[in-house]
Amino acid sequence: MRFDLSRLSGDFIENPYPALARLRSTEPVYQLPDGSFFLTRYADVQHLYQSRNLLSDKSQEFRSKFGQTPLFEHHTTSLVFNDPPYHTVVRKLLAGAFTPRKLVEMEARVRKITDSLLDQLANKRDIDLISDFATELPTRIISFMLGIPESHRAELRGFSLAILGALDPAVSQERMAAGNAAVLEFSNILDQIITHRRANPGQAEQGDVLDNLIHGSHEGRHLSQSELIQNCIFLLNAGHETTTSLVSNGVGLLLENPDQLAALRADPRLIDGAVEEILRLESPLQMGNRRANETISLDGSVLPIGSYFHTSIAAANRDPAQFSDPDRMDITRTPNRHLAFITGIHVCLGATLARIEGRIALGRLVKRFSDIIPSGPAVRLPLARFRGWQSFPLRLG
Ligand code: HEM
Repeated sequence: MRFDLSRLSGDFIENPYPALARLRSTEPVYQLPDGSFFLTRYADVQHLYQSRNLLSDKSQEFRSKFGQTPLFEHHTTSLVFNDPPYHTVVRKLLAGAFTPRKLVEMEARVRKITDSLLDQLANKRDIDLISDFATELPTRIISFMLGIPESHRAELRGFSLAILGALDPAVSQERMAAGNAAVLEFSNILDQIITHRRANPGQAEQGDVLDNLIHGSHEGRHLSQSELIQNCIFLLNAGHETTTSLVSNGVGLLLENPDQLAALRADPRLIDGAVEEILRLESPLQMGNRRANETISLDGSVLPIGSYFHTSIAAANRDPAQFSDPDRMDITRTPNRHLAFITGIHVCLGATLARIEGRIALGRLVKRFSDIIPSGPAVRLPLARFRGWQSFPLRLG
């Protein structure tokens, strides 16, 4: 089968799963024209993420992709594309934001915001799921954590789509320019917020996470202004884009599977299982990358040190060797050890918060409205790495 990540078709973006299933059954360790490997089996993807000797550093790839640009500076400075010891410093500074006590506080806030958004939806009836609900909740939450004033919140989605969109395997000049402009503009805004906060410590009721990043240190190492800015941009993007997709993919899947929606309405306790099944079937982040710092053996193939891997989370999460009847939605599926948040040292730091947001947003939406009806064509995000919806018109009753 011919498969080239740099030439993906519109059909693949619309529905990648048939092509991924063919690769998994015929060439699960598929060598792309540029020499890198595309992995589609659950066992291989999991093995790679758990291995200590695989690197996340992307300076080599990003130098040739982005040149010396704001996008290069951003992506090579954020923790997700770095290895220890720098990765450990940033991760430790962020960890304080996700302790069980903090998450209990955040859960109360998630409930409050969700209910006020649902009141607004009830007044409107004809809504766009994305702009009226799915983006609003995570944007408000992550902005609260980082102390981003309300006046800037509306800009966040545009910034994040422009910046994360540039991570797609093939990027047009236009998208590259939009990504660079977004990093510059976003950096200026954060520079001002951080500088103001340094001069006025502990004065606002929100923004604990930012205070920890500014004033905290790990083994004597503080973050520089540029490291602060780029990691805040990453956190703001990571904190809302994928969670928006969890909610919108969830509504999409429940509408496509009315038996599952009915089961959830009949027993709201199934919401936790529903969220896991949505994450498995339509993983918001569909693929990752790692470079081997050792020889890698994958079911008979021995791949040399320096090999570059694309890990298809989307394919792994529908591997029949791991999940029975993998394309079927089953909100009671147990166990459901999907890799939507991956595993290993870069495992998603916000996974528990994302699950809380997904559970409350979706659970309360289906409880509040007995009719959730598509009222026009929904438009997918035109991206291969991130899976979600750009707009999703609904009529609620
Ligand atoms: C459904 C929602 C989410 C999904 C599917 C998701 C998925 C992921 C994945 C797959 C990674 C690993 C990337 C890699 O190493 O290649 C990751 C990392 C990360 N995520 Fe999430 N995420 C979600 C929500 C969130 C939220 C709400 C936050 C924060 C508020 C967050 C913060 C982070 C951070 C800080 C990292 C970097 C961890 C590290 O490199 O050590 N994520 N996420």
